[in-house]
Amino acid sequence: MNSRAQAFTLGRPPGFIYRQTKRQTKRGVPLVLYCEGAALPSLAERYGTPLYVYSAAMIRQRYEAFDAAFCGIPHTVCYSVKANSNLSILRLLAGKGCGFDVVSGGELRRVLAADRKAASKVVFSGVGKTQEELTAALKAGILLFNVESDSELSALAECAGRQRRTAPVALRVNPDVAAETHPYISTGLHKHKFGVPINDARGLYAKASGSRYLKVCGVSVHIGSQITDVSAFGEALARVAQLVRQLRSDGHRIDYVDAGGGLGIAYENPDHENSGGEFSDYVARYAQALTTPLQGLNVRLLLEPGRSIVGPAGLLLTSVIYRKQNDGKRFLVVDAAMNDLIRPALYGAYHEIVPVARHSRDAERSEVVDVVGPVCETGDFFARDRELPEVQEGDLLAILDAGAYGMVLTSNYNTRPRPAEVLVTGKSSKIIRRREKVSDLLRSEV
Ligand code: LLP
Repeated sequence: MNSRAQAFTLGRPPGFIYRQTKRQTKRGVPLVLYCEGAALPSLAERYGTPLYVYSAAMIRQRYEAFDAAFCGIPHTVCYSVKANSNLSILRLLAGKGCGFDVVSGGELRRVLAADRKAASKVVFSGVGKTQEELTAALKAGILLFNVESDSELSALAECAGRQRRTAPVALRVNPDVAAETHPYISTGLHKHKFGVPINDARGLYAKASGSRYLKVCGVSVHIGSQITDVSAFGEALARVAQLVRQLRSDGHRIDYVDAGGGLGIAYENPDHENSGGEFSDYVARYAQALTTPLQGLNVRLLLEPGRSIVGPAGLLLTSVIYRKQNDGKRFLVVDAAMNDLIRPALYGAYHEIVPVARHSRDAERSEVVDVVGPVCETGDFFARDRELPEVQEGDLLAILDAGAYGMVLTSNYNTRPRPAEVLVTGKSSKIIRRREKVSDLLRSEV
C-alpha cells in the first residue's frame, strides 16, 4: 500500500479509529470506522447522512495540549469561535476554562449562551464591528477589543463614552510578514484589509490613550490561517515585541499580547509531525516560536486557535448515492455537497476521504475516482482523481478533518437543508444540531 492508502486504515486517532467487527461480508471481514466508542454506520442509521460527527475527547485533548504547551508563560487560550460555533462545543471548551475569540455580535451571543461567565475571557476581532456590536460587547464586559482602524477607535470611544464604561483596547497590527498559506486566508501583509500597519501603530496608541473611555492594554496580531511553518509566527511576534518595548517607552501600559490563531493541521500527511498523537510536540514547537521573542516582556499571551483544536476532531459522514462513468472517468456521487463543506470548492482544499468499512480485499481493489456532490456546479467536488478502495452505492464515506470551517460555512444552495451535527463521548452520541428541513428554509420567506 502507498502511504495514502495506509493512512486510510489510521483514521484520525485517538478520536476516529478503525476497529475489527465480527460480521463477515462477501468482501471479507470489515474494519469499521468508529468515533470513540460509536460505530459510524450506527450513527448514520440513527441520524441520517450527510452528518457532521465530532469526538468530544479529541477536542478536549487538543485543547489541553494547547494549554499545556504554554504553561511556561501566563496565557489564555481564546478558542476562535468562527472555526466551529456549535453551542455544545463552546460549552465543552468553556467548561475547561477556555476563553473565546469572536468576530461578530452573533458569535458573542453564542458564547454568552454557552456560558455567561465566559465574557471576561472574550476577545473581539474584525475589521467591521458595528456600533451595535461594540455596545453589546461593552455591556458584556469582554476582556479585549482588537481594534483594526483609526475609525473603529473613534467609534469605540464614542460607544464607551455613551455607556460611561471603559473599553480595554489592543490595536491589531499588521506586521507585514508573509506566511505560506492559501491567498484567501493569509492576512499579515500590508495589502490585506486587516489591522493597522505596524509603523503607524504608535500614533494610534497615542490617540487611544488620549481618550477618556479607552484603556490601552495590549497589542494583537494575526498573520493568517493554516500555517504549518511555525517560524512565521516567531517573526511576527518579534516585531510585536519590539513594538511593545517602544509603546512602553512612550508611556503605555501593555499587559497583553494577542498572537491570534492560524496554526495549521496536516490535512494531507496525518502521520507527519503536526497531527495525531504528536500534536503535543508540534504545539510545543509553536509555543517555543511564540514565546522566545516575548521573553522578559512580562505580558499575558492570548492565543486564538480555531482549526488546530477542532479540525481533526470532526468528520463529515456521507453516503454514496450513485456510481457513474463518463467515457471511462469514474465518479462517486455522494449525498453531501459543496453547500455542506465548501473548502475543496472554495480553496481547492484537500480532505482525506476514507470508506467507513474497510475490507480485507480492498488493497487489490482500488480505483481512481472523483468524489462529487449533487449540486449543479462543476466546482461541487470533494476530491478529484483520488485513489480510493472500491466502494458500492449505499456505502458510507468519511471526509476527514472537517471539524473546522465545515458546518460554519454551510449554505442552503440548491435549497439543500443543512446537515445535522452529532457529538460523541465514549459510546454515547448526542445530536447537537438538528438536521434542517426544507420547511425551515421556506418559513422565513414571504
Ligand atoms: N483569529 C483571527 C483574527 C482570525 O482571523 C482567525 C481565522 C483565527 C483567529 C483562527 O484561525 P485558525 O486557528 O482557525 O487558523 N475558512 C478558512 C479559514 C479562515 C480563517 C479566518 N480567520 C478555511 O476553511 O481554511
